[in-house]
Amino acid sequence: MMEVCLRLPNEMKYLVFLFLALSCHVTAKPPNIVFILADDYGYHDIGYHQSAIKTPVLDKLAAEGIKLENYYVQPICSPTRSQLMTGKYQIHTGLQHSIIWCPQTSCIPDNDVTMAQGLKSLGYATHLVGKWHIGFSSKKCWPTRKGFDSFYGYLTGQADYYTHVQEGVSMPGFDVPDDWHYGVDLRDNDKPIKSLNGTYGTFIWNDKAHDVIMNHNTSKPLFLYMALQAVHAPLQVPEHYKKPYEYIKDSNRSTYAGMVASMDEAVGNLTQSLKNKGLWDNTIIVFSTDNGGEIHLGGNNWPLRGWKHSLWEGGIHGVGFVSGPLIPKSVQGSVYNGLMHVSDWFPTLVQGVAGGDLHDLKLDGHDMWTSICNGTDSPRKEILHNIDPLQPRPFPNKMTGSQHTSAMFDTTIRAAIRVGDWKLLTGDPGNSSWIAPPESNIKAPVPTDPKGKFLWLFNIKDDPNEYNDLSALRPDIVYQLTERLAFYANSSLPVFFPPPDVRSNPALHDDMWSDWIYDKE
Ligand SMILES: *[C@@H]1O[C@H](CO)[C@@H](O)[C@H](O)[C@H]1NC(C)=O
Ligand SMILES: *[C@@H]1O[C@H](CO)[C@@H](O)[C@H](O)[C@H]1NC(C)=O
Ligand SMILES: *[C@@H]1O[C@H](CO)[C@@H](O)[C@H](O)[C@H]1NC(C)=O
Ligand SMILES: *[C@@H]1O[C@H](CO)[C@@H](O)[C@H](O)[C@H]1NC(C)=O
Repeated sequence: MMEVCLRLPNEMKYLVFLFLALSCHVTAKPPNIVFILADDYGYHDIGYHQSAIKTPVLDKLAAEGIKLENYYVQPICSPTRSQLMTGKYQIHTGLQHSIIWCPQTSCIPDNDVTMAQGLKSLGYATHLVGKWHIGFSSKKCWPTRKGFDSFYGYLTGQADYYTHVQEGVSMPGFDVPDDWHYGVDLRDNDKPIKSLNGTYGTFIWNDKAHDVIMNHNTSKPLFLYMALQAVHAPLQVPEHYKKPYEYIKDSNRSTYAGMVASMDEAVGNLTQSLKNKGLWDNTIIVFSTDNGGEIHLGGNNWPLRGWKHSLWEGGIHGVGFVSGPLIPKSVQGSVYNGLMHVSDWFPTLVQGVAGGDLHDLKLDGHDMWTSICNGTDSPRKEILHNIDPLQPRPFPNKMTGSQHTSAMFDTTIRAAIRVGDWKLLTGDPGNSSWIAPPESNIKAPVPTDPKGKFLWLFNIKDDPNEYNDLSALRPDIVYQLTERLAFYANSSLPVFFPPPDVRSNPALHDDMWSDWIYDKE
């Protein structure tokens, strides 16, 4: 144990192994942790949210575990992943704007400890299968330098499910020539893989997770971070998964439904592998989406407002549950309604589940473990959804409707905060429509906000779908929440959002997405 600790950054030294009898389960051995992160999986797209898309495996796991129904993620990929790994808000890593685009040098800051490093220091074997998307310009940003013993997957945000080519979507606002962002993105630790052209991504991750589990030396506890490619675009799936959904006229939606089916099957296979290896009885499974569904690419978040990219509930109110035989009988099949956020997994898993001591780390996350598995009040009273000063502001001279000008905080900045049941949105929160599932007969209402509006207040408990803006009625609450935004803005790091770096061009790296800054390791 000491040997492991010595190789970790300074901040990690207090992460001593303090394995106590946990209040929710008592086991002689630290539990295995399997964290399954789905990509772009919408709120309406899981069976138990009354979806037309069937997810028997996920439904059963959730029914045997605890559904997290007041659970929040970030509206896009890299932000959720950085908060999952660091337990810190984006404003505290400098990653508060946008995703990490392929040609950018963004990274988890050197001084931040990751969840994988935390678990590794407690003796866990740590593996990532699937998507990283938290920076790769230098090898020091790669998962194997951020606490993972092994990595099998892709470094960027998306890739073709068959060719594994990432076409490196152009960064908005920058003129990047089309011919230098086309490369394969698939590797086994540092080694490029070019032999799997034609094999469907979900099958690859399925097989690799199986191998990791079967080859696991059970003298250590296992941490497997399964960051699925499903159900992110491109919309691709083997035909037979799609067949049951051909009745859906919207062909993006029917393909997406098939992708969900393949994901559901992969999760079933994963649990079967854990059982075959004899790990299941001592395993905690977490399932979470990374952000709301993208409605143009098959996802749906009905009845929530807005979708992926936005700070409306449809972008951030995520699907999530915990499961596994260690969940106490008394709460199996329950719904947890305490407020929870993706940054909470770091302390919840490293401290609550694995018994680490994090008291010196300055995290934004809370250890939720005791609360979730006793069904008691959440220690979390607020969530900073984000403050993004780089997001373009609505036209100030066209401001209409309820508004609040404040010396404390410029409310034309894109930001959102939740305090208790209240949520304040400022600036341009992004797409704001309610979108009914294409397979339904529901007629969604149309937003009536005047153009240029930049401030809203909702009571999410009474109005989870954000129909009734109460900002004009409750200026007192608007004031309190604006004060909290000002507080967080004060502690923000400067935004790190560098211009594209032409040295990232895969043509310079044997047609692979790879590192292009060679720091000493
Ligand atoms: C993958 O295979 C297809 C079909 O054989 C081929 O057209 C394509 O160029 C290959 N892509 C890569 C990246 O090797
Ligand atoms: C699940 O396992 C079965 C049996 O090995 C396999 O045929 C199937 O392709 C797997 N599903 C996925 C999505 O990988
Ligand atoms: C598992 O790890 C232990 C401790 O390092 C070692 O003694 C044992 O040989 C390993 N078992 C296998 C099958 O590799
Ligand atoms: C369907 O998906 C494609 C991309 O695969 C997209 O260009 C198109 O706009 C989508 N159609 C709808 C109706 O959203």
